[in-house]
Amino acid sequence: TLANSTSNSPEITSLLSQLPRAKWWEELDLYLWEGAWYFPSVLESTLAFRSHFDSSGTTADFILASNPKTGTTWLKALASYIMNCTRNNDGGGYVIDENVEDPLLKNHPHELVKTLECVTYLKNQTPDLSAIPSPRLFHTHLGYNVLLESIKNSTDCKIVYVVRNPNDTFISLWHFMNSARTPEQGIFPIEEAFENFCNGVYIFGPFFDHVLGYWKESLNRPNKVMFIKYEEMKKNPREQVKKLASFLGRPLASDEEVDKVVWRCSIDRLKNLEVNKYGMSLWDGLSKSSFFRIGTVGDWKNYFTSEMKERLEELTRSSLEGSGLNF
Ligand code: A3P
Repeated sequence: TLANSTSNSPEITSLLSQLPRAKWWEELDLYLWEGAWYFPSVLESTLAFRSHFDSSGTTADFILASNPKTGTTWLKALASYIMNCTRNNDGGGYVIDENVEDPLLKNHPHELVKTLECVTYLKNQTPDLSAIPSPRLFHTHLGYNVLLESIKNSTDCKIVYVVRNPNDTFISLWHFMNSARTPEQGIFPIEEAFENFCNGVYIFGPFFDHVLGYWKESLNRPNKVMFIKYEEMKKNPREQVKKLASFLGRPLASDEEVDKVVWRCSIDRLKNLEVNKYGMSLWDGLSKSSFFRIGTVGDWKNYFTSEMKERLEELTRSSLEGSGLNF
């Protein structure tokens, strides 16, 4: 699987031998590179992405970015749906063209927007992305610090980052990782998983470094990096979808169009579509349905002890102090 695979490349083997290593969920090897934890296969594809990704020659790229379990699937659905809208004949914004087939009926959101280091560069280190019509839409879980300078500096490339409160992110991650375990392995102890999360030891962790990297950039360059909170999307999806569509250069023509996008990308709809119910996702070892669970705010209250609540609250407070960001 994505998590277990090791590398055949001597350069990667040599690099790995020099990096700090940790065990995650009993058997998974993680390596600390440039401040974040990686599976060996994902580190290899990350390096391939950094060597070969080329954003010149296209008129625009949009990069969706996120920490795992913070709303990636939702953002992928929304962004690809919005990009599929067409300009209204009278020029007053974009509308859903009902003659064009709904892309979400036939594709899991992770197929519509591929994750660069977990899919695109994983099996093929030099994929040809030049044929993808512009504007291209990609996703990454990589931290802002390791994105390519060409992405950071290009005026034609924009980034949308989705964040979620750390408590729900952790619970979602715990369920997600459990969904990939065999019945013999059973449920992984939540206390141990929580300890790892608080220590920043999980795939693409630590949480707060990831969040703050994009948060700071969104403050410095709001036209370049849009920062969305999962909780705000849940509370006021109409407003957030409107903002997202404008940022993607596809302002929606009316509230009616906005409402259609909100409903068609909602978890209640997506989790019941045949395409998302059965089979395995592009992420090795993970089912398509595992990306849709309950999609609510505050599920952590059903799991946290008061010690867990206090510990993560304190970590959140100290990590975000002075940043202007809160949950
Ligand atoms: P829960 O486990 O709390 O239900 P990611 O997409 O980054 O992997 O995050 C997965 C989380 O987003 C899961 O949260 C999942 O249920 C939720 N999710 C998936 N699709 C969603 C949607 N369309 N709207 C809201 N939440 C969604």
